[in-house]
This record gives sequence, C-alpha cells and structure tokens, in this order.
Amino acid sequence: MKVLLIGSGGREHALAWKLAQSPLLTEFYAAPGNPGIAEHATLVAVNTEDQDAVVAFCREKAIDFVVVGPEAPLVAGLSDTLRAAGFKVFGPSAAAAQLEGSKGFTKDICARYDIPTGAYQRFNNAPKAKAYIREQGAPIVVKADGLAAGKGVTVAMTVDEALAAVDDCFEGAFGAAGAEVVVEAYLDGEEASFFCLSDGKHALALATAQDKRVGEGDTGVNTGGMGAYSPAPVMTSEMVERTMKEIIEPTMRGMAESGYPFQGVFFAGLMITAKGPELIEYNVRFGDPECQVLMMRLKSDLLPLLLACADGTLDQVSAEWSDDPALTVVMASKGYPGAYDKNTPIGSLPARGPRSSTPVRR
Ligand code: AMP
Ligand code: GLY
Repeated sequence: MKVLLIGSGGREHALAWKLAQSPLLTEFYAAPGNPGIAEHATLVAVNTEDQDAVVAFCREKAIDFVVVGPEAPLVAGLSDTLRAAGFKVFGPSAAAAQLEGSKGFTKDICARYDIPTGAYQRFNNAPKAKAYIREQGAPIVVKADGLAAGKGVTVAMTVDEALAAVDDCFEGAFGAAGAEVVVEAYLDGEEASFFCLSDGKHALALATAQDKRVGEGDTGVNTGGMGAYSPAPVMTSEMVERTMKEIIEPTMRGMAESGYPFQGVFFAGLMITAKGPELIEYNVRFGDPECQVLMMRLKSDLLPLLLACADGTLDQVSAEWSDDPALTVVMASKGYPGAYDKNTPIGSLPARGPRSSTPVRR
C-alpha cells in the first residue's frame, strides 16, 4: 500500500515511525515532513495548502491512502478535495472538522445531544457578552470561536479579566477566529485527554494522556504541550466507559444526524469534575505531543486501524496497548509560547535515543 502522510510536526514523526512498521506498507511519502520523518518516509516538496498540488502528487504516485496529521488542512477541506478526486483519506471532512474549527458549533452539538459540558452562550458583539459575564460572575471562561493556535482561551478569575478578554477578541487579537465569542462556565477538576477513532458509525477507544503548562509543577500559561504521558491515571476504566457513553457516542450520533458523519480521530479535552467527565473541547486530529506517547504504547499495527476508519469497518478491528506508561518531554526555544527565536539548535543530546526516535524541533 502506498501511503502519503501530511504534516511536519512531532506528531507526524510519531505517526511516521509507527506507520513505517506496518507490513502493509509498500511506499511511504510525507509532505512536507521533517528531518525525523525523513528516516521513515520519502519527503515530498508539495505545498500542502495547495490542494490541487496534493491531488496531482497522489495521482502521479498512485497513492492508495492519505493520512492527514494537522487540523489546518482538515478545516480547509483537504480530505474533501482528495475524496472527491477518488482517494482514500484518514481525517474528517471540513464540515465535520468544525468540531475543532468552531467552539460554538461544538457547544451547540453538546446542547442538542445532552453532552456534559460547561453552560455557555455565543456572542457576536461585546456589549451582550459583557452583560452576560457581569450577570454570571467569575471565574468564567472566554473563548474566541475559531482556530487561534491554542491562544484564544482566557480562564478569567475576575470579571475584569473576562471583560478584557472579550475586548481582545472583538478588537481582532485573534483575527477572524475572534469574530464570535463563546462565554462558558468554569469547570473545576483534573484535565485529561481522551483519544478515540470513529468511522462515522462505530467508535474505537484508543488511549488517554495528559499534557503540561509552561512552568514547573504545571504552572504558568497554557501551551500546545510541554510534554505528555499516557495513560492518564484519572481516566479509570469507569471514566473511559462514561466518556464513551456520555460524550463520544452522542457526538458521533449527533454529527451523523446533522449530516456530517465524523471519520477520523476524536481528541476530547475533558475536565473530570465531581460529576464525572465533562467536555472542554474537541480536536479532530491526534494531539502533539500526545500522539508521541500514544504511538509508543500502541502494540497493534496502526495502518489497518486508520484504514478501518476510512472504510467504515472500525467494528471489525481492535487495538492492543502496552500497560507500560510512556512519557515525552518537549524542548522548546526560550520564550515559548510567547515570542521566541526560530531555528536555534538544541545541543547536549545524544544523536539518537535508545529507541529509533530522534529529537524533533517544534
Ligand atoms: P481549550 O483550547 O478549549 O482546550 O482551552 C484551553 C485550556 O483552557 C484548557 O486546556 C483548560 O485548561 C482551560 N479551559 C478551557 N475551558 C475551560 C472551562 N470551561 N473551565 C476551566 N478551564 C477551562
Ligand atoms: N497538545 C494539545 C494539542 O495538540 O492540541
């Protein structure tokens, strides 16, 4: 099977490392890839924002299966374009990717299907959002509706902080992503990430993970993740079962009934509150760096699992996991997640770790 992987992060390096072990694989390409991925796949200099160029490459190489790693091409509709051209793809349609692309969309699905999440309101102007915040009081959470590179969320401990966050959104701090704002109730508990494959009709639970803030002891600002470990101890088998029943299954049903069957990976950001699992957000792709720890623990071949999503046969496969925990540490340039220097070498590391994993810059 000839496979093309789209993406260039640590997440895609982990996917490439795992996919390269599949006996089903005959040819393996990655666009644009990175030096770590180059150890496993042939890198292709195709601009992945140019969907026609990706289709042309797939035709030229007679690609059998495309795995899309990051959210941006999914939200931009790369899966739709490839499917329309006759290619098999792992990853949701642009319509289904709204689960990550629009927080308001996800909250509306939650409300319609009785999925546990913080109470909320959507706003397209500052005065109404501010009046709601004053009425609700703090702590309260203000979110830019669209994709804001993980920066569009303010967990406000005071009303003033929340009001300032509303101004930031409507004054363009997050560009088009902030044209609509979701204000939601603060959820108290322990956060965990839950990953689950879906073919639109069937779901297959994968594994759990937790990631970190910028500072020691999980303090400071939120980042894309300074590291991750799996499994998340808070996700007991009872919590996993409840998450599947109360959150994942109704979402899958809701998406299908709304005309957007979800095919790909649900990455549910959860708050485990006194009441049980509540949904903070959905992402429609593997987490980075959560994918790295998931792939280390996955004993089964990844390729048939991703293919089963595309083929609608997820009920016919299963995944085996190592009970050993896995942990990854992100080395970021000083200053991250604020302004930071790019292309700074990270020294003092052995050229190669004990397993075939090279360090990847983010
Ligand atoms: P999000 O981008 O929606 O995952 O939000 C980023 C972070 O903000 C989450 O990982 C949580 O730590 C925090 N957060 C988001 N929504 C809430 C909420 N309703 N209550 C408490 N914390 C939240
Ligand atoms: N580590 C969080 C994310 O991938 O969104």
